[in-house]
Amino acid sequence: MTQSNIETVADPQTTEIDIPIHGTDHVEMYVGNAKQAMHFFCSGFGFRPVAYRGPETGVKDTASYVVEQGKVRIVITSPLGPDSPIADHVHRHGDGVKDIALWVDDAAAAFDQTVKNGAIPIAEPTEEYGDGGKILKATVGTYGETQHTFIQRDEFEGTFLPGYEEYGLEDWKINETNLEFVDHIVGNVEDGKMNDWAEYYESCFGFHVLQNFDEKDISTKYSSLRSRVMKNANGRIKLPINEPAEGLKKSQIQEYLDYYKSPGVQHVALHTNDIIQAVDRLRTNGIKFLQVPDSYYENLLDRVGDIDEDIEVLKDLHVLVDRDEQGYLLQLFTKPVEDRPTLFFEVIQRKGSQGFGKGNFKALFEAIEYEQQKRGNL
Ligand code: FE2
Repeated sequence: MTQSNIETVADPQTTEIDIPIHGTDHVEMYVGNAKQAMHFFCSGFGFRPVAYRGPETGVKDTASYVVEQGKVRIVITSPLGPDSPIADHVHRHGDGVKDIALWVDDAAAAFDQTVKNGAIPIAEPTEEYGDGGKILKATVGTYGETQHTFIQRDEFEGTFLPGYEEYGLEDWKINETNLEFVDHIVGNVEDGKMNDWAEYYESCFGFHVLQNFDEKDISTKYSSLRSRVMKNANGRIKLPINEPAEGLKKSQIQEYLDYYKSPGVQHVALHTNDIIQAVDRLRTNGIKFLQVPDSYYENLLDRVGDIDEDIEVLKDLHVLVDRDEQGYLLQLFTKPVEDRPTLFFEVIQRKGSQGFGKGNFKALFEAIEYEQQKRGNL
């Protein structure tokens, strides 16, 4: 190794990191049956199908559907045979998030800088051309088999990405649910690995620690977890990382790891500017949420102070509230969206608070434990 190579070894104190990220470009899921999963996200969550790629567009081994609502874009991909890495992924993990794609100005620079700082290289910068122009993309790894693809799309005006065609809605009436943008995406990693992955985002991507939660913050009589929230410079990307902690019974994080068979994405939080309407419509569409005990609402106003919403309405919809120094937030969590108890979604409305609902952790985890108990996994 030459002297100059030694100097390129990552050091979070001295390495210059400047990777402007505009936001989450899209989230890609690998699933067993993309056609049916797409229908679930549209009929249940109120997304619109906007783009498609598959055999009809010249791609022989996969089918991908893109669904969109507000700025949230989810790509749902299935393998069309057993001989693809996507089939292996689905076999091992079940349906889950493969890629948290990040929208950047310069995908090559993002790849070069992060890899130089120690990020796992997955795919070198590649240009793709289509009817609407060209994009540049490059991919690095993160926890488990999850990855981040950097997408540079300033010279592209076509449908989603090159190779995709518009998806016709025809007579389908979608009941949209006011979901606006990705607020945060949480990963679950093994006991003892949270700090390593937090440092990965710090040293490779230049992220900072926004908040820390330990087992004293997040525990019930039975189980606990630790969490560290990492965020990028402009705050548009927030990636909390959880690990299980010792408790009397099995942590919900451990249950996830047992079923996903590796670290991976635990939940995707979607922001809305009207959680009451959003949750009301989601429930009407058949989306199932965690049950919050009625007792949660008994002293709620003592805990959170004055809020704009009618507490009876919140109680009816089982929406949770938490307050910190900057304001309050309302949130609610779906049950897992596949048969394995792995990925779920959060609906969140922020009214000043930039927190994650620390005051709700106990009530929430008791609700999760109730579900764990029913599955025989507590
Ligand atoms: Fe969350």
